[in-house]
Amino acid sequence: MEERIQTLLQEINAYNATDKAGVEAYRLRYTSKKGVVGELFEELKQMPVEQKKTAGKILNELKQAAEAKLSALQEQVETSTASANALDLTLPPVPNTTGNLHPLTLTRYRIIEIFERLGFNVADGPEIEDDWHNFSALNFPENHPAREMQDTFFIEKKGVAGAPQDVLLRTHTSNVQIRLMKSQKPPIRAIMPGRVYRNEAISARAHCFFHQVEGLYVDKNVSFADLKQTIFHFAKEMYGKDVKLRLRPSFFPFTEPSAEIDVTCLICKGEGCVVCKRSGWVEIAGAGMVHPNVLRNCGIDPEEYTGFAFGMGIERVTQLRYRVNDLRLYSENDIRFLKQFNTSGIA
Ligand code: PHE
Repeated sequence: MEERIQTLLQEINAYNATDKAGVEAYRLRYTSKKGVVGELFEELKQMPVEQKKTAGKILNELKQAAEAKLSALQEQVETSTASANALDLTLPPVPNTTGNLHPLTLTRYRIIEIFERLGFNVADGPEIEDDWHNFSALNFPENHPAREMQDTFFIEKKGVAGAPQDVLLRTHTSNVQIRLMKSQKPPIRAIMPGRVYRNEAISARAHCFFHQVEGLYVDKNVSFADLKQTIFHFAKEMYGKDVKLRLRPSFFPFTEPSAEIDVTCLICKGEGCVVCKRSGWVEIAGAGMVHPNVLRNCGIDPEEYTGFAFGMGIERVTQLRYRVNDLRLYSENDIRFLKQFNTSGIA
């Protein structure tokens, strides 16, 4: 019996368990009632009295060793699983993915920044507008073909069959110019960024909605030269000091004289490419001196005050800034497109 006890002791000392199942297997084999140690105690009962004493002593030692080992194994497995579940504070953090501003917003912010430094305020107005603020006050005569320059979305008047369509989605942000001149006395110096709508088929070059920034400066002695220098300053700030400006005569019912303003194409540096249709110039704005009729419609005396106005498309400015060549990308919300304007460095 002593020999068997010695081998068992060695076995017990060498036993190792890495998980709870291993510890349970140990318990069943050695320390449980039906385990080997228990069996030896049964055998002890049958032994002659004189042998019982010595054998009993070492058997008791084996029992104690086996139980001590069981507690040691239990503790070992417990602490190793606990540390596996614990937080590892040395790991680098997972960065938060942040969204970023839309390219049109970035351009709008930049435009506002440039004009604010020149003393222009930012003004806002409704996108659902009446005919008077969008057309009539701006010197578009009723039924005049000039209204067709801008394909308009009309909003039907409920329950008034055949009534003239008066409510519409604004076709330009000039409605805000009217609202400003009606509610404030000159000097007025403001820009009006906003969304506008035109009933056009959607393509790479046209969309049924887009964004404009219009500008208005009404005061005593405002001249065409002021207009030209303001736009020139803007173009240099936006596109760099090498940019050149070109004014072409044009027509808008609300300005007289009127001009279309081009800048040298930044994509081909004036050599000719698809964006500038091989001309070396791209149109960036319409502009002119506010028509005396428009001032009068808003209660401002054209003998006392003059003003200039201009309007530009934010999409066009953005196209030249970021080389985006399809207007549809701006409203499709494709994350692969939008992510390219992430300036935080975290994608
Ligand atoms: N409202 C014009 C347009 O949308 C732009 C413009 C504004 C032109 C101011 C001249 C002066 O086409």
